[in-house]
Amino acid sequence: MESERVQNIASSTFEDTIPEAFIRSEQEQPAITTVHGIDLGVPVIDVSDPDEEKINRLIADASREWGMFQIVNHGIPSEVISKFQGVGRAFFELPQEEKELYAKPPGGKSIEGYGTFLQKEIEGKKGWVDHLFHRIWPPPAINYQFWPKNPPLYREANEEYVKYLHGVVDKLFKSLSLGLGLEEHELREAVGGDELAYLLKINYYPPCPRPDLALGVVAHTDMCSVTILVPNDVQGLQACRDGDWYCVRYIPDALVIHIGDQMEILSNGKYKSVFHRTTVTKDKTRISWPVFLEPSPDLAVGPHPKLVNEKNPPKYKTKKYGDYCYCKLNKIPQ
Ligand code: OGA
Ligand code: NI
Repeated sequence: MESERVQNIASSTFEDTIPEAFIRSEQEQPAITTVHGIDLGVPVIDVSDPDEEKINRLIADASREWGMFQIVNHGIPSEVISKFQGVGRAFFELPQEEKELYAKPPGGKSIEGYGTFLQKEIEGKKGWVDHLFHRIWPPPAINYQFWPKNPPLYREANEEYVKYLHGVVDKLFKSLSLGLGLEEHELREAVGGDELAYLLKINYYPPCPRPDLALGVVAHTDMCSVTILVPNDVQGLQACRDGDWYCVRYIPDALVIHIGDQMEILSNGKYKSVFHRTTVTKDKTRISWPVFLEPSPDLAVGPHPKLVNEKNPPKYKTKKYGDYCYCKLNKIPQ
């Protein structure tokens, strides 16, 4: 298992070569497929603006047009973010044997744990990234066995981040509801209210000798309702709009919000689940911390009843979230 970690492959590759499995097809290679020099990017929204209607409108517009936006002045203190990032980075800097103590249990049932290669890809292709997954909310959904004991402040720093994250989650669901003409509590209820789970993933992208040929995370949409991501200061996230790939500008302390599949479904297609991917760099380690807001596996999610009628028939099936994920991960049509 250990030898499969991208972090180990990265530290044992020489010169300008990478294993064949990491070389993307020409349709995917970032050096050929990224748009440069066009001043178009995902919107940046200051959520501390006293004009709430304006914020709601900007969020709804961004969710329709891009399915992604960044928020600034969101109320999570800079020190809280940097401590949370510091402990995550420190975990990946531990000796390999210690990281392996948190490896996903064999059998592939658990998403939680330390690992590499999430989805089976066509032709056995691989992304240049390792990860650690564990739930951080609500308390009954947490499995502390997947929370690193080292560094010692890991737990405290994560708990502190979650404490502030609630405010951002509430605000987003309210704005997204109002943007669809719903009452402010309705989308939150539709994803399970207080049972909504926060699943943290830490992506660790080591330096890559051929960033022109490889990708970190391959193009995908997130399965959850909404993703709240904080990156380190190394550029790498890209969003797709109308078939073109745009870099998402790094802004210190900003949170990158992704509309996920369940939100596209709930909104009956008004909001767009953003197609996104990540690139890697030659000499820097990129790290990102997405938190996926997930309905519980047994909760059925479909277009919100208030958004469908004879003129607007449902465009998506209503389906248990667990079944949705199973189909998506195994490439079975929904
Ligand atoms: C993901 C993802 C983006 C990033 O892990 O689903 O899209 O910036 N990550 O690392
Ligand atoms: Ni993603």
